[in-house]
Amino acid sequence: MKTAKQLLLSAAIAAGVANFTTPALSDADQVARGKYLVTTSGCHDCHTPFKPGLNGAEPDMSRMLSGHPQDLVMPPAPVLPDGPWLVTSSATNTAWSGPWGVSFTANLTPDPETGLGRWTVRNFKDTIRSGRHLGRGRPILPPMPIPVYSNFIDADLEAIFSYLQTIPPISNRVPEPLPPPVQAVSVTP
Ligand code: HEC
Repeated sequence: MKTAKQLLLSAAIAAGVANFTTPALSDADQVARGKYLVTTSGCHDCHTPFKPGLNGAEPDMSRMLSGHPQDLVMPPAPVLPDGPWLVTSSATNTAWSGPWGVSFTANLTPDPETGLGRWTVRNFKDTIRSGRHLGRGRPILPPMPIPVYSNFIDADLEAIFSYLQTIPPISNRVPEPLPPPVQAVSVTP
């Protein structure tokens, strides 16, 4: 038998959980929460190109969340020697080479041609939840932290998308990813 105190406590916890999963936010609050989540979840680290700053590399906010710059054509990725090094990245932190090939961070601005301007919130949630482009296309490659972000609750993904749709659109066509080089097979004569 639960005491009155225990009952009150479970009711309070249930109310807290309900409140946590279904926060009713105004549009402005939803956008503000999305901005908070984008700035605390590392999106700028990879989707805003880095530039040299006074204290080392820093995100170039004039190109905020516009992904790998189309005018920065990368030479072939360096071939790493055998050993524990696995991944290389460009100085902009927007092009990455690893066992999956080369990936370039996407343009998350609302530009309709080159960014997420034509996406619906459904497209965004399906992409993050499934780890596939629009929920049904090709798999989203590393280092996009899909295994982490697929844990966002719906309300957070909706807030992130609402915010992304309010930032300045930037026309920047990000290149398609490149497959990994074919492994040289050594055949002993
Ligand atoms: C560690 C680097 C990294 C971080 C942090 C990161 N991303 Fe990404 N993201 C990538 C890369 C690389 C790609 C492109 C992968 C590909 O082409 O398959 C990508 C792709 C995406 C895509 C898919 C676009 C498409 O057309 O399918 C979305 C959406 C996205 N990121 C949103 C976000 C959001 C929102 C955040 C922050 C909550 C974030 N990313 C943080 C690296 C990152």
